[in-house]
Amino acid sequence: MKHIKFLCLTLLLIFAATLSGCGSNQPKAKSVAVCFPNTTSSWQRNGDSLQKLLEEEGFTVNVQFSATIEEQQKQVKDVIGKNPDCIVIGAIDSAAFVEVLENAKKKNIPVIGFDRILSNTDAISYYASFDNGAIGDGMGEYIAAALNLKNGGGPFNIEFFAGGPSDNNAHIFFENTMKILEPYLKSGQLVCRSGQTTFDQVAVADWNSANARPRIQELMSKYYTDAPLQVVLSPNDDIAGVILDEIGKAGKPYPIISGLDGDPAAFERIKNGQQTFTIAKDPDVLTAKCVRMIKAVVEGTQPDINDVTNYNNGVKVVPSYLCTPMIIDKTNVNSMAAK
Ligand code: BGC
Repeated sequence: MKHIKFLCLTLLLIFAATLSGCGSNQPKAKSVAVCFPNTTSSWQRNGDSLQKLLEEEGFTVNVQFSATIEEQQKQVKDVIGKNPDCIVIGAIDSAAFVEVLENAKKKNIPVIGFDRILSNTDAISYYASFDNGAIGDGMGEYIAAALNLKNGGGPFNIEFFAGGPSDNNAHIFFENTMKILEPYLKSGQLVCRSGQTTFDQVAVADWNSANARPRIQELMSKYYTDAPLQVVLSPNDDIAGVILDEIGKAGKPYPIISGLDGDPAAFERIKNGQQTFTIAKDPDVLTAKCVRMIKAVVEGTQPDINDVTNYNNGVKVVPSYLCTPMIIDKTNVNSMAAK
C-alpha cells in the first residue's frame, strides 16, 4: 500500500512538473490597452475593428470607451498600472495626457496616438491617422467645385460648423477648408449671413452633435426664414445628421453639405439626396496600419511610417502613418459597403 501511495505521488509530481513545463514554453500573449472616446459611432467601429485584428494576431486586448476627459484620464492611468505591452489612445482632449503619460514613459510602455495626436508629450511613440490636412482640403475643394466658384459661381449663402476645440484634428480640418473657401467669402461669391466664420464661433463643443442643434435652429430662424441656406460646412456625419434634421424640420430645402467618417447613416442620406458627400475613413484601413505599428513597437522593430514632418506635437515631431481618405457622394455611394 505504501508503495502504491508513493507511486501515485511520484506520478502526480511528474504530471504537475510536465504541466508547468508546458506553461513556461508557451509565450505569454502580449497585451494592448485601447482607450477611445465614445463621441461618435465611428469610434465604436474603430474599436471593434482594432479588437478583431489584434486578437487575430494573438494579442490580449482591452478596449475601453469614455465620455469625458476626466474619465479617460482615469482609464489611461488605470491601464498604465496594469503594465500592458502597448497603449493606444484616441484622445478626447489632445493635450490632457501630459502628466498621466509620464508614468507610461517611466515604465517604458509604448503609446500610440490613434486618429488624434497626443500633444505636448514625448511619451507618444507613433501616430496612426488619416491625412487630416487632406480631409480639410477635400471638403473645401468639393464645395468650391460643386458651386463652380473658380469660374465665378455665386453668390451662395453658406454657414460653417467645426469640430470640438480640444481635438487637434478639428482645427486642421477647419483651417485647411477655410484656406480654400475664404477667398470666395472675400469676393462675395460666398455669403455668410450670420457672419460667424471663425473657429471659435462655429466649433461644436466635444464634437457632440447635440451641441450643434441649438445653433442651427437659431441660424435658421434668424437668418434663413426668407433667404435660402444653400451650403453648410459640417465637420462630420454625426453633426451633418443633426443639421439636416433641423433644416428638414424648418421645411427648407437641403443644402450642399459636407460630412466625415463614412457613417452608414450618411451613406443612406447620400442615397436619398439629403447629404451631398462624406469623406470616408475606412476603419479597417486605419486599424490595419495601427496593428502593424503595435507589432513593431512590441517586437522592437520599425513600423511603416509615411510622414515625419507634419505632426509636431509641441515637444517632438511624431513619426506618423497617414492613411488616404475617400470622398463618397451620389456617384459612388452605391459601390460602398457600410462599415
Ligand atoms: C475624427 C473624426 C470624428 C471626430 C468625432 C475627430 O478627431 O478625426 O473622424 O468624426 O473626431 O469623433
